[in-house]
Amino acid sequence: MGSSTLSLQIAGLSLDYPGMLASGVLGYSAESMFRVIEGGAGAVVTKSVSLQPRCGYANPTVVQVKSGLINAMGLPNPGIQVYAEEIRRSKTLIRQPLIVSIFGYSAEEYAVVAGKAVAAGADALELNVSCPHVKQTGSEIGQNAALLFEVVKTVKATVKVPVFVKLSPNVTDIVHLASTAVDAGADALTAVNTLRAIAINVETTRPILNNIKGGLSGPAMKNVALRCVYDIREKLANIPIVGCGGISSWQDAVEFFLAGASAVQIGTAIAFDSPKVFQTINQGIETYLKKKHLRSVNEIVGLSHH
Ligand code: SIN
Repeated sequence: MGSSTLSLQIAGLSLDYPGMLASGVLGYSAESMFRVIEGGAGAVVTKSVSLQPRCGYANPTVVQVKSGLINAMGLPNPGIQVYAEEIRRSKTLIRQPLIVSIFGYSAEEYAVVAGKAVAAGADALELNVSCPHVKQTGSEIGQNAALLFEVVKTVKATVKVPVFVKLSPNVTDIVHLASTAVDAGADALTAVNTLRAIAINVETTRPILNNIKGGLSGPAMKNVALRCVYDIREKLANIPIVGCGGISSWQDAVEFFLAGASAVQIGTAIAFDSPKVFQTINQGIETYLKKKHLRSVNEIVGLSHH
């Protein structure tokens, strides 16, 4: 059980700690997500799952760059029929909220996957409308306000659990898309997915990733993600925001709270460190709050706007 200083409520979910596992890292199996919970996460988000299985792109799918990773896995997953069993197993191991990340190629498909994930035990859903490189889904939906509205509204009409919408930073006006998601009924926003990027091998003279372009994560993108959270909070006062992008220390997490996030997601820092990064971040936040004579994380949410 977490300390009351660090526990919080977001979109109806109770978290013992403010850090969630971000989708895409260690989110495939019940056991790996359990390890992340043991490391101090307050909730976990699964790898994104679709109606039909997808094998993803050929290797190389990940490249380490200065202060980050660029990945283009291609949304590999076994399909919701098979993954439903993993959701059920996860619910027997994990007491903390299990948020299932889903995607589809139409609003109806998102809704079918949503229904199946919830029937298997998902406590909440995160709509991946922001993967920057898979065709006809992801950011092709999240960058288009009309499609985004339809997807969120259709899923909301299908399920009763909280629906988080993971936004793309690869847009001109993130506030417009955030407010579209809110108007369609989103219960919370996750800001943000990866930044579209490329790495080139100077010896071969060719792009390194098989897919050529991928998504940049890690410290290299932290201040872009932070700006996205700040912009959304400035215009949308009431929607809970989960900050995501390059968080690897308690100071990073606190910056996101001050910008307006109520919770944070961590992914790449686990790959560079271990799931225990959550414990280190939790301790740092707790010490910071004590030093400031504050009783909960909630007291610093959005403080940089005042
Ligand atoms: C991938 O599977 O290639 C990444 C998914 C994402 O960026 O949402």
